[in-house]
Amino acid sequence: MLVLGIESTCDETAASVVSNGTTILSNIVASQIDLQKEYGGVVPELACRRHIDLLIPVIQEALAEAKVSLEQIDLIAAAYGPGLIGAILIGLNGAKALALGAGKPFIGINHVEAHLYAALMSLANTPRFPAIGVVISGGHTALIHIQGIGEYRLIGQTVDDAIGEAFDKVARLLGLPYPGGPEVERLALDGDGTRYPFSSGRVKGRPLDFSFSGLKTAVLHAVKGSSQKGEQEILLSEQDRCHLAASFQKAAFSDLIKKARLAAAEYGAASIVVGGGVSNNRALRKMFAESIQHLPIYWPESGLSLDNAAMIAGLAYHQHEKRGADSLALQAAPRIPFIPFFANGLESELTP
Ligand code: KG4
Ligand code: ZN
Repeated sequence: MLVLGIESTCDETAASVVSNGTTILSNIVASQIDLQKEYGGVVPELACRRHIDLLIPVIQEALAEAKVSLEQIDLIAAAYGPGLIGAILIGLNGAKALALGAGKPFIGINHVEAHLYAALMSLANTPRFPAIGVVISGGHTALIHIQGIGEYRLIGQTVDDAIGEAFDKVARLLGLPYPGGPEVERLALDGDGTRYPFSSGRVKGRPLDFSFSGLKTAVLHAVKGSSQKGEQEILLSEQDRCHLAASFQKAAFSDLIKKARLAAAEYGAASIVVGGGVSNNRALRKMFAESIQHLPIYWPESGLSLDNAAMIAGLAYHQHEKRGADSLALQAAPRIPFIPFFANGLESELTP
């Protein structure tokens, strides 16, 4: 089954053709980083205008690279949320229009669920379930008990910043450009992670929840403390910036790994599945592998950590098998509650 997937929930316009949920025939991502860099973050209206310009060329390129025509596609899928409402609408309506025009079935896919599927789609063998899903992106930080593809329960989430968001904010404090995650990772390579005694927050009575805002503030105070000219001009030595980046990264990741390990023990997990932009971080992969040696840890392959449409097309294959196609009346959902989408979930929702 050939699925054309479309992703436009934030600042990447992406299209991909995937065969039977696993074989990626094309994976085209038009990033808007050049545009967002100028503004230090994603400006929704600008992101939407770019999506409009890029959507059709990106779809054409995905079909061309896969060497298939639209007629050969069996199913058209788009991320319907969570994310920026205007941005979602462009990819979603584009997918619906294509489906209607070409007479193909359409299905809406949850972007967060697709991030987790990204780590599973290249596996040669069936993943081991139950698993603990670790979603770490710019918009989300969550622990999910996965019983199988499509069977989830939210067991922990951030009460304030998402981990990727914390990376982006710390990067800004250190004078680094957007998106900050890869920049902080690069700087941390030359720093000593024990130099600043940072730690992530605990949430009282909820051992699997996260809080990163205090950690971010601790970095702010460290930056200000090192400033020789007050708040306006931050004069940190290059070496101090590296130590700060390394210490922040170490604190954020130690907390993440500790809670993933706790969740794995509590839920008798047979594996750990990590997804989302922050899973691209090499230091994180190394720390996870060193700290959790008794379970397989599944990571997205190259090109599948950051926002992409291959994960949308891949998951669409399984969701279509499970529940069939969606109506073209499916609405964009900037926030998708875990209930009813995630069966047996806690009463909470993932925010974009
Ligand atoms: O999954 P993603 O592409 O988009 C969302 O769904 O949010 O994640 C983007 C986030 C950004 O916050 C970015 O700074 C972070 O992932 N990120 C990283 C790295 N690469 C991207 N964070 C840490 N280390 C990285 N190498
Ligand atoms: Zn994402």
